[in-house]
Amino acid sequence: MKTLKERLVEFLADNESNLKEIYEALPDEKETTIRGRLNENIDKCFRRVSRGIYIATVGDTQCALIEGDSWDELAKLEDNSFDAIITDPPYSILNAQMQTGTTRARNLKKGWDFETKDIDSDLYSEMLRVLKPNGHFFCFMPAAKHDTYDYIYNQIKIAEAAGFTFNSQWVWDKKVISLGYNGRPRHELILFFSKGKRRRINNSIADVQTHSRMMGRKKVHQTEKPVELLIELIRFSTYPGDVVLDPFAGSYSLGLAAMLTGRHAVGIEKHPDFAKAGIWRMTRSLWT
Ligand SMILES: C[S@@+](CC[C@H](N)C(=O)[O-])C[C@H]1O[C@@H](n2cnc3c(N)ncnc32)[C@H](O)[C@@H]1O
Repeated sequence: MKTLKERLVEFLADNESNLKEIYEALPDEKETTIRGRLNENIDKCFRRVSRGIYIATVGDTQCALIEGDSWDELAKLEDNSFDAIITDPPYSILNAQMQTGTTRARNLKKGWDFETKDIDSDLYSEMLRVLKPNGHFFCFMPAAKHDTYDYIYNQIKIAEAAGFTFNSQWVWDKKVISLGYNGRPRHELILFFSKGKRRRINNSIADVQTHSRMMGRKKVHQTEKPVELLIELIRFSTYPGDVVLDPFAGSYSLGLAAMLTGRHAVGIEKHPDFAKAGIWRMTRSLWT
């Protein structure tokens, strides 16, 4: 007979659930007992393993978050250790847009909540080094416009010069229009690279992904990406048990998406508050 903890771990490994759904899935257990077991295990599933390194565990799946600067931290990781890299970098190209305009909350603040820095050839080379041969690298980019297309093109060229193969450009359709003059903006781009010829895992996934952007109180990061979108990229790029890397983790949506699909993840985030909020959000989403 399995213990309640084992049953919970098994159930949560396959289902992102709230408490009500967990109660319904385990009707023979008292709700207070389930809550008690979950509370006990949050501590075990979310550990600070050393200064600035956090680990979350669900069943056999582990997700680590390193608080630090990717330019320093990637150098400490071994060659060929990740099956995929999926990231949303803190690119500077939208900084100017953030300084102007008076209607959106982000413009009123006159900037992002986080530091921006563009991926350069050193970091592309490091990402290539830690990625396994044939592994996928997905990199979010703004939509191509009069003031961004040069930047996007240059990023592709720098990544290629570092050794990545550029495969194609995907589109994230956010479903809701935003402010703008040349057609109301509703999408962002995602550049799809690989280390050499890409591995083929799941060819049923479309290169236009339609998922609502995160809004309202549930959002813990200004540029938080929807977990459902990241799940599609993970399923396109990896098998269960594989390891994915996000060098700019933010709220660590990628870690949550990885855990929900049975992949391991490593994230790096420079801002200490986001690092803690990210791993805590992930643990809470999985356990409460
Ligand atoms: C665009 S956000 C990522 C948001 C994330 N995709 C999410 O869903 O929440 C970029 C993140 O990179 C972090 N960052 C900026 N510079 C960094 C650096 N040098 N090393 C690691 N993280 C950095 C920022 O603090 C920010 O949280």
